[in-house]
Amino acid sequence: MSESYQMFPSVVSRVEQLTPLVKRFTFERIDGQCYPEFTAGSHMFVKMNDDFSNAYSLVSDHKDFSTYQICIQKEANGKGGSAFMHDYCVEGFELEVSSPNNLFKLSPSSNKHLLIAGGIGITPFITQMEELAQHNANYELHYACRSPEYLELLNSLDKDVHSSCIHTYVSSDEIFLDLDKLISEQPLGTHIYVCGPKPMIDATIEACNKYRHRDEYIHWEQFSSTATGSGNSFKVILAKSNLSIEVKQDQTILQAIESFNIDVECLCREGVCGTCETVIIEGEAEHFDQYLDEDEKTAQKTMMICVSRAKGKEITLEL
Ligand code: FES
Repeated sequence: MSESYQMFPSVVSRVEQLTPLVKRFTFERIDGQCYPEFTAGSHMFVKMNDDFSNAYSLVSDHKDFSTYQICIQKEANGKGGSAFMHDYCVEGFELEVSSPNNLFKLSPSSNKHLLIAGGIGITPFITQMEELAQHNANYELHYACRSPEYLELLNSLDKDVHSSCIHTYVSSDEIFLDLDKLISEQPLGTHIYVCGPKPMIDATIEACNKYRHRDEYIHWEQFSSTATGSGNSFKVILAKSNLSIEVKQDQTILQAIESFNIDVECLCREGVCGTCETVIIEGEAEHFDQYLDEDEKTAQKTMMICVSRAKGKEITLEL
C-alpha cells in the first residue's frame, strides 16, 4: 500500500549550473534539522505548487542527511516543473521537499551489477555506485549521452574508485552504445539496471528478453508515466460516493473524478509516488504506474488512478 510522504519546508542553499541544460540544487531544512535517511537509488518530490510535484533522484552523499541534492535537466517539452526550477528557483528560494522513497533498489545479492544510463538518467546511479564500491561489488556503468558536457554529471564520483568501471558513449563524437551487444555479453544472473529515455529502457528490456535474462533481474526507472493518460473510454463506479463516472479517451480516472469536485490525495500524477493508490472492488486495471511491483499488478487489488485505466468497459473502486 502507498506510503505517506512527509513534507519538509526547505530553502535552496546552492544552485550550480553543471551543463548548459542541467543544474544541481542543494536543499536545507528551514528548521535546521537533518532530512530522513535514504538508501542508494532513492528519489524525493519537490512540491512546486498545490497541484504539482515532481520526483527527482537524490544525488547527495547518502550518509550525510544535513542536505538533499538533486540534478534537474531543463526540458523543452516537459510539464513545466523543470522550467520552474531552472527559471525561478534561485538560492534562498523556499519550497517543500518530501521524505525519500526507493523504487530502484540495488539487489543485495548479485554476482554482477550492470548499470545503463542515458543523459540525465545517470542521477540514481551516483549514489548506487558509491554503495557498490563500498561493498566491493562487481559493477559496470555504461553511460550514453548526446554531448561531452554531460560527462560533467560524473564529476561527483571519485575517479580513483570508479574509473575502471565507467564506460562512456558520446553521440556527438559518434561513439554509440550497442545495447544488444552489451546485454549479449552479460552472464545470466547479472542484475541489469537502466534509467534514461523510454526508447533506451525499451531497448534494454527487449535485449534482456532476447538473451533470456529473467524479469526479476531487470530494473528500470523513468520519472514519467509509461502511458499518456489516454486510451479507451470506460465507466468508473465509485462505491462509497455512489457515483458512476464516464472516463473519456483523453482523461485519466483522477481527472474524471476531480471534475466532480471529489478530492483524492495525489502528489506526482505520474504513477510514481503511490499516494493515489485506490482499492479495486470489481473489474481489472490496465496498470501504467511504476509504483506497484509485478505481483501487485497481477493481484488486481489496487491501482494508481492518476495513470492506470480499466481493462474493460467498467471498473468499481472503493472511493
Ligand atoms: S499521484 Fe503519485 S502515483 Fe498517482
